[in-house]
Amino acid sequence: MTTEHVAEAAAGRESYAGLLRFYELAKRQEWQVRDLPWSELPPIPAGKGSPKRQAQRKDMWRSVLTQQLQADMLACDMSSQLLNIAPDPEARLYYSTMVQDESRHTEAWLKLIAEAGGTAERDPYLDELAHMTLEADTVEEKVFQMQVFYERLIISRFRLIARASRGTVLEDLCDRLTTDDGIHHGAGMAYERVLLQGASEKTKRKLVDAANRLLPIFVKHALWRPKERSVIAEAMRRRDVERLHEDLAIGVRLAESLGLDVSDVELPNP
Ligand SMILES: [Fe+2]
Ligand SMILES: [Fe+2]
Repeated sequence: MTTEHVAEAAAGRESYAGLLRFYELAKRQEWQVRDLPWSELPPIPAGKGSPKRQAQRKDMWRSVLTQQLQADMLACDMSSQLLNIAPDPEARLYYSTMVQDESRHTEAWLKLIAEAGGTAERDPYLDELAHMTLEADTVEEKVFQMQVFYERLIISRFRLIARASRGTVLEDLCDRLTTDDGIHHGAGMAYERVLLQGASEKTKRKLVDAANRLLPIFVKHALWRPKERSVIAEAMRRRDVERLHEDLAIGVRLAESLGLDVSDVELPNP
């Protein structure tokens, strides 16, 4: 079935046209792990200074990579769940590309981590967040949490990592993920808008309630630092809290732009 066939089957479903456009975009942007500059560039930035300092830097990068690997492995679970439960043909077609993206991201992190010396500590709060999303009752909640919220916020993280890792495979990968997650977020916004048009007040209310349960865990996740980064954790804390406030404000704005009543959102105070 071509996209035109889906479009035909979707006649009278104009509100889904936006989602189909993201499907086309996802296909055009598709890349392969072999396209990364594996043999031309170092995997991660080389450390400077004493051997001890270099080892610390390497551990720090391994922990950054580990968290991104963890996030993308969880994204594989979440996107394949969406593929399986989304009731709309346009959404299924789109999610079939997102599943491929998330597993390609995972493949790239696995290879990069192997080159950087192996994995580090997992973030327990990230696991908890993903499970809350996987166990959420409605498609509306899942799309909101994963695509509208997390995938929007991860984009600025990729930009920060890219800026700190110029001239490496890691920078190249982060640039690709910025584009991919931009598409994932855009598609999620387009789909959530359609879903909420037909949603009952009760469903919308549940979505806000779920957000209120999720936000305190999100705060713990945002401020969590593995032991590899405990040396810099204190120095980073003020900036982390600032960034967290910005992230929460973005989440509220996105919910508002989808027509949700955000007056009952309880913003946790980190
Ligand atoms: Fe991803
Ligand atoms: Fe993604």
